[in-house]
Amino acid sequence: MLVLGIETSCDETSASLIDEKNHLLSNIIVSQNKIHGPHGGIIPELASRQHILNIDKVIDEVIDKSGAELDDIDLIGVTNGPGLIGSLIVGVNYAKGLGISLSKPVIGVNHLKAHVFAAWIKEDKETGKNYETPNEFPLMCLIVSGGHTDLVKLDKNFQFELIGRTRDDAAGEAFDKAARLMGLGFPGGPEVDKKAMLSDDRYKFPRAYMNDTHDFSFSGMKTAFLNLSNSESPLVDEKISKLSNTFQEAIVDVLTKKTIDASIKFNCKGIVLTGGVAANSWLREEMVRKSNLPVYIPEKKLCTDNGAMVASFVVENSKFNLLNKEDNLNVYSVLNY
Ligand code: KG4
Ligand code: ZN
Repeated sequence: MLVLGIETSCDETSASLIDEKNHLLSNIIVSQNKIHGPHGGIIPELASRQHILNIDKVIDEVIDKSGAELDDIDLIGVTNGPGLIGSLIVGVNYAKGLGISLSKPVIGVNHLKAHVFAAWIKEDKETGKNYETPNEFPLMCLIVSGGHTDLVKLDKNFQFELIGRTRDDAAGEAFDKAARLMGLGFPGGPEVDKKAMLSDDRYKFPRAYMNDTHDFSFSGMKTAFLNLSNSESPLVDEKISKLSNTFQEAIVDVLTKKTIDASIKFNCKGIVLTGGVAANSWLREEMVRKSNLPVYIPEKKLCTDNGAMVASFVVENSKFNLLNKEDNLNVYSVLNY
C-alpha cells in the first residue's frame, strides 16, 4: 500500500509518500518563510496563492523522488482542518482532483491528529534513519504549535480525549511574539532556540502553571516578557541571548511539568511530543530528562508541518478500519477530538 499525504493548512506546501509499514519513501516541504518573513507573520491571502503556485511541483517531485508512479498510489490523505481556510481549500481540492483522476479514495485528516501520528513513522528511507514508535497505551500527547497547545490522551483504539488546552495564546505564538520584540526573524521559535543556546544566563521570570487545571495560559508570560525586554533596552546581542534563554526556559518548564503531571494522573505508558514547537531543542531535552516514561518525539522536520504526518495518520488508522470517521472532506476550522 502506498499513501500520499498532502499538507497545506498554513504556510508549508508539503507532500509525502509512505508505505504500509509506515516507512517514509519521500518527503517534500516547501516553506513560505521568505514571503511572510518581511511581514512579521503569515498573510493568509499570500499563503493560499503560494500554495496554488507550489502544489503541482511538490506532488511531481515527491513521486519522482520515491521512484514510484502516480498510479501506484492507493490512498490520498489531505489535511482538512483546522488551518487557514484559503490554504486548506488548495490542498483539499487538489487532493479531490487527483483522487478523481486516479480513481483512488481521498481521506480528510485533522491537522492536530496528524501531528500526533508523526510519531508512528518507523523509518525514513531517504536518510536511512529508524525511529522508536509507541506501542503501549494510553499516551499523553502534547501538541504544541503556532496555533495550538493541546494535551490529549490517546487510547489503544486511537480515540483522542482532550485533557487541557491553552486558554489564550499558543506556545508557538508566544515564541513568535517574543522573537518579534527582540527584532528576530519570523518564524520566531527557531530564532529564540538558536539565541538561547548562546547564553547560560537568565533573568528572574514568572511562570503560569495554572495549578488547578491541565489548561495552559501564555498571555501573562508574554506581557511579562514585553516588560522585561523594554526594561533591558537597548537590546545588545548578549541581552538578546539571555532574554531568549529566559523566555524559552519558562515556556519549557510549564510545558514539561504540565505534560508529565497529566501523564502520571492518567496512568499513561508514554508521552508523545509533537507540533512545530516540539522542534525546540531545550523542550526535547527537558521532556526526556524529566519524565520517567518513554518519550516519543518525531525528528525536527516531522514536528513542523509536513505531509508525512498526514500519510502516517492514514496508514495507522487504516489498520483498524478507522478511516470512515475521518473521510469528511468539508473544510472546517473547528476542532473536535
Ligand atoms: O506545527 P507548525 O509548523 O505550524 C502550525 O500548525 O502552527 O508550528 C509552527 C510554530 C511556530 O510558532 C514556530 O515559531 C514554532 O512552531 N517553532 C518553534 C521551533 N521551530 C518551530 N518554536 C520553538 N523552537 C523551535 N525550534
Ligand atoms: Zn501544525
